[in-house]
Amino acid sequence: MSKYFDENINRHGTHSVKWDMNEAIFGKADVLPMWVADMDFASPQPVIEALHQLVDSRILGYSFAPDSLYDTIINWQTERHHLLLKKEDILFSPGVVPSIAACIQALTQKGEAVMIQDPVYHPFADMVDMNERQLILSALKIEDDQYKMDFVDIEKQIIDQQVKLFILCNPHNPGGRVWSADELTTLLNICQKHHVKVISDEIHNDLVYQPNQFHSAVTLKESYASFVITLAAPTKTFNLAGIKNSMLFILDTDLREKIKLQQAKAEMSNINTFGYAATEAAFSKGSMWLDELMLYLTDNLDIICTFFDKELPDVFYMRPQATYLLWFDCSSLGLEDDALMEAFVTEGKIGLNAGISYGQQGAQFMRFNFAAPRETVLEGLKRIKHVFDLHQGHPLS
Ligand SMILES: Cc1ncc(COP(=O)(O)O)c(C=O)c1O
Repeated sequence: MSKYFDENINRHGTHSVKWDMNEAIFGKADVLPMWVADMDFASPQPVIEALHQLVDSRILGYSFAPDSLYDTIINWQTERHHLLLKKEDILFSPGVVPSIAACIQALTQKGEAVMIQDPVYHPFADMVDMNERQLILSALKIEDDQYKMDFVDIEKQIIDQQVKLFILCNPHNPGGRVWSADELTTLLNICQKHHVKVISDEIHNDLVYQPNQFHSAVTLKESYASFVITLAAPTKTFNLAGIKNSMLFILDTDLREKIKLQQAKAEMSNINTFGYAATEAAFSKGSMWLDELMLYLTDNLDIICTFFDKELPDVFYMRPQATYLLWFDCSSLGLEDDALMEAFVTEGKIGLNAGISYGQQGAQFMRFNFAAPRETVLEGLKRIKHVFDLHQGHPLS
């Protein structure tokens, strides 16, 4: 199957945010885009076939989620994540970020405090800010080369700032941490004690490297069901971001009714017909593809880590436990964050995500998306090294 993932598919001219927006995003056409979290791999063949079948039906009218779709979601979550769901626990949404917005609107009032961690996927902060809630940040600490939560700070701020809602990224983007059962339990116990509701964004739940063990937050204790909302999607797992589909899993009836009402106010509870078809095909027939994908990504990651260790031994990187994102520290370049981005764009000719956009704790970091054919990954590494060589005087070997 690696031939499948080695294929270099030309995405230019497809209105791809990653490949067709270089000028708009980086101010230059000639950068190699290795940033936004989609993959340069073809989606699973059964998904492509299901979409063809839908188009071939020739009428794309209103549609609803069939029971067979609910069954595939329930089976997937049971088998892969030990999350036991009933049909009524599942709501649909056009995206995880829209779901976060709906939860903020439904569960908090304007001006109330919502906590996130720093750094974290930046739309968390955007949704809190744009909905005029108070953003409370708890900094992640780096220990043993990985992010760790600061539980003392979390509890103190929850009390001091009267936090109502916590948005958790599980697994973590951009650091790639797969939170342990102990970490999650400690966090959720604090939230439970202080009546803080929790959104657990689990969109990266299937992209976990051996031997790490992902835990869906709500599965860790029965009582968590009363305040934890789980967000999941097939879009990261199967490279379907453009299809715009995701799910909310809400086991508690009162909590679910609140979110349903909020969704109804904006008529946001349906996903499009392509989303239903792609989701069902992915979860029912995409297992083998996903297992092969993880082997390919593991090899990419091994190559990247070996490259950094050998060619850039002084550069700190976090080996991700999940996701296809490498988070590395560029402070040795001695550049301000703006200049750092500029250096990668103009000197390296590579488009990465600036760490600072994920919060102050992300300053001086860059995020490298390695879900690409090996040839592209090797080219990306060469370009990254070129920037370090230029600034640190080491010639390209
Ligand atoms: C943690 C996290 N949540 C949500 C999203 C986006 O989800 P959606 O496209 O369904 O809004 C991403 C995309 O990178 C992500 O990393």
